[in-house]
Amino acid sequence: MKSLTATVAAIALAGMATATTAVAADGKGVYNQACIACHGNGVAGSPKVGDKEAWADRVTKDMDTLYKHAIEGFQGEDGVMPAKGGYTNLSDDEVRAAVDYMVQESQ
Ligand code: HEC
Repeated sequence: MKSLTATVAAIALAGMATATTAVAADGKGVYNQACIACHGNGVAGSPKVGDKEAWADRVTKDMDTLYKHAIEGFQGEDGVMPAKGGYTNLSDDEVRAAVDYMVQESQ
């Protein structure tokens, strides 16, 4: 019985470690979950991912500003960027990874 408990605990720990690593690195996954609804098509005035022109003056801001606007929300000239895209359960790191992915795809 003792070894079964230990095995179950080890599997649970391994699963947790894997999940954390995958989420931290997966900007594309976060984007597909939380950002694509607007940024996939330029809905509500959002800069469409892949549209270099729409991103041209945004990528000249430093990344910290873009992260801040994505995490805390941002009212710009084109519309309202909700904090974390409305997915307040996302960690700041997940949102940063999604911003990295979006900028990378739009330059
Ligand atoms: C409800 C629609 C909506 C969702 C969902 C959304 N955005 Fe936005 N986002 C906007 C709009 C609109 C703007 C443009 C605001 C402006 O410049 O007027 C914007 C702008 C941005 C910008 C540029 C900010 C700047 O300073 O120019 C970034 C970066 C960004 N969004 C990241 C994200 C990320 C990351 C997600 C997902 C976690 C996300 N957005 C989800 C609507 C959305």
